[in-house]
Amino acid sequence: MTDDFDAPRQRLPRTAYFDAAWYAKELDALFDRAWVWVATEGQLKDPGDFVTCRVLHHPLFVVRDADGELRAFHNVCRHRGCELVEGRGNLGTAVRCPYHRWTYSLQGALRGVPNEKECFGSVPRTAMSLHAAAVGVHQGMVYVNPHPNPPEPFDAWIAGLDEHAWPHRLDDGSMRFAGELRYEMRCNWKVFYENAVDGYHLGYLHDRTLGKLRPHNNVWRRVGRHAMWYSTERDGSPQSSSILTAQLADGAGAQRLPGHETPNYPGVVMLFPLTVFSPNPWGFYISVIEPTGPESTTLRTLSWVPEGFWGRVFAGGGEGEVVRLEELKEHPLESGNFQIEDMWICEKIQRNLRSPRFAVGPMANGPGAESPVMHFQQSVLAYLQGQLGDRVAAA
Ligand code: FES
Ligand SMILES: [Fe+2]
Repeated sequence: MTDDFDAPRQRLPRTAYFDAAWYAKELDALFDRAWVWVATEGQLKDPGDFVTCRVLHHPLFVVRDADGELRAFHNVCRHRGCELVEGRGNLGTAVRCPYHRWTYSLQGALRGVPNEKECFGSVPRTAMSLHAAAVGVHQGMVYVNPHPNPPEPFDAWIAGLDEHAWPHRLDDGSMRFAGELRYEMRCNWKVFYENAVDGYHLGYLHDRTLGKLRPHNNVWRRVGRHAMWYSTERDGSPQSSSILTAQLADGAGAQRLPGHETPNYPGVVMLFPLTVFSPNPWGFYISVIEPTGPESTTLRTLSWVPEGFWGRVFAGGGEGEVVRLEELKEHPLESGNFQIEDMWICEKIQRNLRSPRFAVGPMANGPGAESPVMHFQQSVLAYLQGQLGDRVAAA
């Protein structure tokens, strides 16, 4: 385990958080080659099983082919660009475009073109294969990358994660999917990410929801570009939840997963740049950060709870529920929900970024304070400055 963060200082300019040109640069140099969680392996068990997703402007899908291999493609027909498949399900043995029914194999090869001879003469097959994306699997989780050959390969990106493994298995029947919640936030995605890895604010902003977490009794551990959060409030090994969180969850009757009496795994797993896992004794949450513009971000949170548990889902929400601050009936600090407290702060930061007086002052040093913020910014810069070796996009 390592938590050797450098002493923090702000590395990104103010404009990085609202400027359209900076955002365009991120689309090109970061999100075009970013690994993002897309599904559990159990959702892609059989040949033909597929899921779709969107990574910024890239519509993608992942499918299990007839040989049992997972493949990822851009969900864009090579004829006139129609979206090929929707949602999730099973494709049978081929991908059929609904528009003019060009047909592709599950390995992306163009197989059929209706009325080919009279309309086209012939269509060059190899040049018209589906555009490939990249796919990787780790601990039952499937990740996708819009780049066919990512400059940061999957194995390098995921390296070191095993040391921080969580015992939850979402596909073995011990847990069930409990719904999706969308937080629509008026802030840049980096404002959200930086707040998420800031250990300094926990015991102050969240004193009523997460408890007395001070820089010395919570810790972020650095794993490559990623960061894993633990509470170190208790004697013994670090645990996934704060003392107050455990009291609130157990007190509210949330059911613990068997064997999770001492949860010695991280409580937050930030997988740079867009994936957040929250493993805990009462469930497992997967959040995907979806930047929707330079100053807007949606956080999509999927929840799994112990099978047989019908109590109130700790993370909130039923299927497709949307949370917006302006629709809350109470003040965010009265919500009793740390996610809403964070959202409130992120929007307050975002509103101030355009002030010429806005500046980041000294940052709190330490792995349970603000050092992980700079670690994150360094990864953003590594991508934007072309340090991954494929090309240079000057930041
Ligand atoms: S756009 Fe797909 S077949 Fe025409
Ligand atoms: Fe927070």
